Formats: sequence, C-alpha cells, structure tokens
Amino acid sequence: MTEAILLVGGQGSRLRPLTSHTPKPLLHVAGVPFLAHQLARAAEAGVGRVVFATSYLAELFEPYFGDGERFGLHLEYVTEDQPLGTGGAIRNAARRLRGGPDEPVLVFNGDILSGLDIAALRDGHRASGAAVTMHLTRVPDPRAFGLVPTDADGRVLAFLEKPESPDQLVTDQINAGCYVFTRSAIDRIPDGRVVSVERETFPGLLASGEFVRGVVDDTYWLDLGTPAAFVKGSADLVRGVVPSPALPGPVGEALVLDGADVHPDAVLGEGTVVGEGAHIAAGAVVNGSVVLPGARIAAGARVHRSVIGRHSVVGADCVLDSVVVGDGATIGAGNELPSGLRIGCGATLAAEAVRTSAAPIPCTAQSLASSGVPHASPAAR
Ligand code: GTP
Repeated sequence: MTEAILLVGGQGSRLRPLTSHTPKPLLHVAGVPFLAHQLARAAEAGVGRVVFATSYLAELFEPYFGDGERFGLHLEYVTEDQPLGTGGAIRNAARRLRGGPDEPVLVFNGDILSGLDIAALRDGHRASGAAVTMHLTRVPDPRAFGLVPTDADGRVLAFLEKPESPDQLVTDQINAGCYVFTRSAIDRIPDGRVVSVERETFPGLLASGEFVRGVVDDTYWLDLGTPAAFVKGSADLVRGVVPSPALPGPVGEALVLDGADVHPDAVLGEGTVVGEGAHIAAGAVVNGSVVLPGARIAAGARVHRSVIGRHSVVGADCVLDSVVVGDGATIGAGNELPSGLRIGCGATLAAEAVRTSAAPIPCTAQSLASSGVPHASPAAR
C-alpha cells in the first residue's frame, strides 16, 4: 500500500480574504473542498494511507475528512505548533508513516491541480533508485519561478533561483509540487525546525551527490494559489478539461449543487459552479465563476471570473469582473467593480459606490432553462 503526505499547512495569503476563515485546501473548487479532488486521484493511483501535515486552521480538516473511509483511504492528521515549512512539515508528518526505509512516499502540495499519472511517477521512482523523484512542468513564461534543469536521463542538474536576466533562462522546467521520496531521504531532513524542501533539502541532496530525478509531464497543471488560477481551476474541472473522480455532477458548462436556487432566466456558463444554498436571481449572468455556498446574486447582476464568498450578497445590476468577494460581504446594487478588487469578509459596499467603466462582460452561455444544466448532488460529503 502506498503512503502519502499532503502539505496543507500554508496560510494561502495570495487568496485572502477567501482564506481568512478557510484554509486554501478546503476552499470549494467545482463544488467540493479542493482536497477531495486530490484525495480521489491519489486513491485511484493506489495510495492507501495519507498523512495531512496541517498548521494554519488545522482544526478544520478532520471534521470534514474524518478517518477517510468514504474516500477509500486511511487518513491521519499531524499538526505543527509553529509552521515548519515544506521540508519540516514532511519530516514531522513522517512520524505517522509505517513503511520501511526503502519504500516510496508520495508528497503533494495541497493546492496543485494536475493530470499527472501519479502511479507512473511512483513506479518510475522505485525502478530508478533515486532519493527523490519530482514532477516538473513546463511553463510558457518561467521568469516567476525557480528553474529545474535536467539531463537526458532525467537527472536534476541544479535548482536555480528565479532568473533575473535572459541568459539565466536555461530551461522552462519548474517544480510542479508533487514528489516521491524514498523514506530514508525524509529521515535525513532535520527534525523540529523550519526547513524548505525547495531551498534546502533538494539542493542539499544534489550537493551530496544523491540522484534527484525530474519527470517532465506536459499534461494539465495549475497552481491554484491566486484568485485567477482558482477560478480557472474550478471552471476547468466543471468543464472536464481536467478530469476528477470527485466532481459532484456531470461535466458541462455549469454545475449547480443540490439546494442551490437558480432562476430559469439566469444565465450560467464557462464552467461556473453554484454551491449549496446559493441563489441566482432572474436575468443574472454568471460566467467562469465560483459562487460559494449560501451566496446570493441579485437580478441583472453580471459576474465574470469571480469568486463570490459564502453567504455574501451581490446586489442587483452589479458588474464584477475578476473580483473576490469575501464571506458575508454585501455589495450594494449598481456597483461596477474594477478587475482585481477584493472585498473583505463581512464588508458592506453602499449601492452605486463604485462605478468603473468596466468593459462589457462577454456572455457565451445559454440560459439555464434552455441549456438544461443539471442539478447535481455533492458526492463527497
Ligand atoms: P501563499 O501564502 O499564498 O503563498 O500560499 P501557501 O501558504 O499555500 O504557500 P505555498 O503555496 O508556497 O505552499 C505550498 C504548499 O505547502 C501548500 O500546499 C501549503 O499548504 C504547504 N505549506 C507551506 N508552508 C507550510 C508549512 O509551514 N507547514 C505545512 N504543513 N504546510 C506548508
């Protein structure tokens, strides 16, 4: 049985205010907590036991996932008193692993959506004899990332900091946030202090001549850490661009969860998800967005590529493009909010307080009534 560690202790600061009360891995993506998608894919790959390395809002994980039985997994939870960084968290969580020193251990960042063949990564690692195998992905613009060049045999040659000049752009390969460690390599990470795998553990293994293997995989890959990536990842799951066994309904242009109330004259599309108990009024147009449980979008509002927080309200005829509305916030009627704006949890914006000349929001979807968007039941509750 393969064991895995899920790194879920980060603060998710780039997604604030959504992460003010909910850790990033528990935010609903395509209708279920993001981790439900990751756990389902791990189970499919033959993972049997997962240790959650928690820190920020640690107490919120176990009530949802429990012992893991309904996911076909055995789950354990380990909490850091102080965040230990990615490497320190792996070392700390390894206390609950049962495999021997030569066994492979999968490690996942808790915010990566990918189409990677996890079983193939693990099996290739076993056969290679490497200390660590890491999933690498290629990005069109690698300037914002640390780079990981490899040789023709997949041997990692270096871990390079973000390139500062064109001559430092030696590869477009970056660390994709999924690893297979040989258990004994985890045991060599220092215990009880902050360690970064990216900055300390992996470069240290290279410096001591260990075999660190990189596997470039060009299937779907997305780090859901920013609002734009978060809505894209959710929409891609809803539309089936990236498959997930945890999707709580059929693939389509929109996903409406059980208990949501969408007026037949509302228009949903581009992978929008409407959470349980949310309400979309007549004439509202919601495209490519995540409407979290209990949120309300009033008549005539147009919402594009935005996240509408739990139990928040978007007033009539508002226009939102690439906006994040925190939980419990209220946007008064007639506001036109500029792209990139974030509204804090519980904040109230008076009617017509902001009127940017927003570009017209494209509408490619059909009305709910004519497109026959099905209502779906969440599978993983
Ligand atoms: P930002 O604050 O927006 O950068 O997000 P983040 O806190 O999630 O950080 P980042 O995306 O760099 O983290 C990568 C993965 O490691 C995520 O799954 C985090 O939950 C996890 N992580 C980061 N730091 C820690 C830590 O100190 N402890 C644990 N247990 N996990 C961590």
